[in-house]
Amino acid sequence: MSSPVPELRIGPHKVRGRFALSPMAEFTSWPMRVLAQEFGAAFTCTEMVKAKFVVQRHAETMRELRRHPGERLCGGQLCGGDADELAEAARILAHELDFPFVDFNIACPIRRIVSDGAGSGLLSDPAKVERLVRVLREAAAPAPVTVKMRSGLDEKSITAVAVARAAEAGGAVLIALHPSTARQGYGGQADHAVVAQVKAAVGIPVVGGGDMQTPADAVRLMRESGCDAAYFARAAIGDPWIFRRAQVLFETGSEPPAPDPEEWRAVFRRHALWLLEHLGERETCLHLRKLSREYARRLAREDARKAAGAAMQKLERFSEFEERLDALIAAAK
Ligand SMILES: Cc1cc2nc3c(=O)[nH]c(=O)nc-3n(C[C@H](O)[C@H](O)[C@H](O)COP(=O)(O)O)c2cc1C
Repeated sequence: MSSPVPELRIGPHKVRGRFALSPMAEFTSWPMRVLAQEFGAAFTCTEMVKAKFVVQRHAETMRELRRHPGERLCGGQLCGGDADELAEAARILAHELDFPFVDFNIACPIRRIVSDGAGSGLLSDPAKVERLVRVLREAAAPAPVTVKMRSGLDEKSITAVAVARAAEAGGAVLIALHPSTARQGYGGQADHAVVAQVKAAVGIPVVGGGDMQTPADAVRLMRESGCDAAYFARAAIGDPWIFRRAQVLFETGSEPPAPDPEEWRAVFRRHALWLLEHLGERETCLHLRKLSREYARRLAREDARKAAGAAMQKLERFSEFEERLDALIAAAK
C-alpha cells in the first residue's frame, strides 16, 4: 500500500493538518468554514457553484462564494461540462475573487446536473475530465486545480481509477474522493477500498472520506487506505471541534474530550452571529432550526441534547435565539 505524503500541499500551498471540511450546499458558507479552520480543518471549499452562474455573476452564486477575510485555504468549487464556461468561471475565481485554488466537482449526483454532462455525469468520460481539468488549470494558473469525485456512476461502472488518472494527467494537484456511486446519492455505504485503489494509482495527494462519523473513522481510513488526508462533511455540522479531535488522535493516539457547555455555547453563538451577518435574520432563523439539532448532538447530557434540539424549532427572531441559548446552558450545567 502507498504511504501518505510526508508534507501535504495543494500546489504551492502548504497544508497544515490532515482533516479537511468537505463542501456542503447551504452549510459550508464562511461562518462554518471559519470555525472549522479555527479548530484545525486542513482546508475547506465553498459549496458547489455552477460555472454558468459565475460567468453571469448571478447574485445568489456570488453570495455563496463570499469568504471571510480571515480564511486561509478555501477553494472555490465549480461544476460544469462546458469548457468555455469553466475557463471563464475559473478565471473569475482565481484572478478576480482571489481563491487560492479551484476545485472541480465531478461528484454531484443531482439528476439535472448529471444529465447536463456535469458533476457525476463526467465519471463515465475520463478523456473529457482530462480535457476540462487542463482548461481549468490554464485559466486559473498560477492557482492550482483540485478535483472532487465519486467512485463511478453506479456499481456496474466503477471508474474512479481511470478518472483520477485523467485528472492527474490534466494537471490536478489533489483528489478528494467520496467512494460511493452517483446512484447511491448520500445513502448506502461508501466503499473505502476504492480510496486505496485511487491512492495506489496516482502520484498526487488523495483525500478520502464518506461516512466518517468520528475522528477514529477518519484516522482508520488513512491508516488502512494510505490516503494522505481525510475529510468530514455531515459529521462536522454542529461539530467544528471534530477537526481538532481527529488531528490530536492522529498525532497522539488519544482523543481530547468534547467541549464543555460554556465552550459549546460560545462557539454556537458565534456561528449564529456570523450567519446573521451572512444571511440576514429570516434565513438565519430558518437555518438555526436545522443547525441546533446538529449542535445539540455534542452536549454530554441527553436531557440537554433533547432540550437544545427542540428549543429552536419555532425560532422566528434572532433575539429569541439568544434567550433560548441562555436558558439551555443554565439547564445543561
Ligand atoms: C447537504 C449536503 C450538501 C452537499 N453539497 C456538496 C457540494 O456542494 N459539493 C460537494 O463536492 N459535495 C457536496 N456534498 C457531499 C459531501 O461533501 C461529502 O462528499 C458526502 O456528504 C460524504 O461525506 P460524509 O459521509 O462525511 O457526509 C454534500 C453533502 C450533503 C449532505
